[in-house]
Amino acid sequence: MTLDKRTIRFWENKSLFITGATSGLGYAVVEALSHLPVTIGVFSRNKEKMAEMESRFSGSAMRFWWRAGDVRNREEVENAVQDFAAFAGKLDVIWANSGISLDTRQVKWDWEAYHTIIETNLHGAVYTIHAGLQAMGGPAEAQGHVVAIGSAASMRGLPGRGLYSLTKISLAYYLESLVAEFPGVSFHIIHPGFVDTPINQGNPNRFWLLHPPKAARLMLRAVARGKSRYIYPWQMKILYHLVHCLPEPLYFWIAKKVGKISIPRGERQDPQRLLTTDSASGGEAKK
Ligand SMILES: NC(=O)c1ccc[n+]([C@@H]2O[C@H](COP(=O)([O-])OP(=O)(O)OC[C@H]3O[C@@H](n4cnc5c(N)ncnc54)[C@H](OP(=O)(O)O)[C@@H]3O)[C@@H](O)[C@H]2O)c1
Repeated sequence: MTLDKRTIRFWENKSLFITGATSGLGYAVVEALSHLPVTIGVFSRNKEKMAEMESRFSGSAMRFWWRAGDVRNREEVENAVQDFAAFAGKLDVIWANSGISLDTRQVKWDWEAYHTIIETNLHGAVYTIHAGLQAMGGPAEAQGHVVAIGSAASMRGLPGRGLYSLTKISLAYYLESLVAEFPGVSFHIIHPGFVDTPINQGNPNRFWLLHPPKAARLMLRAVARGKSRYIYPWQMKILYHLVHCLPEPLYFWIAKKVGKISIPRGERQDPQRLLTTDSASGGEAKK
C-alpha cells in the first residue's frame, strides 16, 4: 500500500514538525513522506539516530531538519519549533507524537513513573501544540494542522493503564477545546490500536497488530482527509466505540475480570505484599 494521490497532493510542499520520530510510528511517518517534496523537522532525544536519519534521507525529495531535545522541557520545545519554522519558512503541520508507556499499577506505584508519564505524554504534547500554534500565527491568524497521537487505550480507564489512558484522553479533550479558538486550524486526534514498535514489546496481548509503515500511511491519509478523530485499525474502532458506550456496572464487571488477567501470574495472589515489600528480593519494606 502506497500513499494515494489525494494524500500525496495534501502532503506535497508541506512543512511538518514532529516529536519523537527516532523510532516506531514517528519514524515511519518520516519515512513515508521522504519520497515527497516536504520539509520535516524532527525533535527527539536520540542525537545519533537523528544524525543517522539525516544521512539516510539526504538524497531523498524531503528536506530534513532535526534538533535534539526533551519534550518535557518547554523552552527546548519552543525554541525548536520557532527555529524550524524559520528554516522551513512556514509551519503547516505540528505533530505531537512523543510518548511512553509505563507500569503505573497501584501495586507497583512509583512517583517517578507518575511524573515521567504525565510530563512526557501530556505536558510534552501541550508544549508542542502550543508552540506550533504560536508559530502558525496565534489564535486569530493561525492556519494549518495540529495532530496529536492519543491511543485506543483512551476508550475507558483501562485496568492498570490509568495514567496512560488519562494522558491520551486528555489530549483528545484538549484538541476539542481549541477548535473554537483557532478557526483556521484543523485538529486531528489519532488513536492507534496496537502497532509493532518498541513501546509495547513487553505486551503479549497485542491483537490486530499493524506494522509501522502501514500505520503511518493510514495516519497520513486520515490527516489529508481532514478526519478530526481517527481510530485504527477498523476492528479497534468498533471495539473502542462499543467499550466506550458500555454502562458502568457492565464495564466495571469486565474491567475486574480483565484486570485480574493482566496482572502477571506471580503478583496475583497477594498484591498487598507488593505494596509493602520488595517482592523480587524478599527485601525490606518500601517507604
Ligand atoms: N505502538 C503502539 O501500539 C501505540 C498505540 C497507541 C498509541 N501509541 C502512541 O504512539 C506514539 C509513538 O509511540 P511508538 O509506538 O512509535 O513508540 P516508540 O517507538 O517507543 O517511540 C516513542 C518516541 O517518543 C520519543 N520520546 C519519548 N520520550 C521523549 C521525550 N522525553 N522527549 C522527546 N521525545 C521522546 C522517542 O524518542 P527519543 O527516545 O529519541 O527521545 C521515540 O521516538 C506515542 O505517543 C504512543 O503513546 C503507540
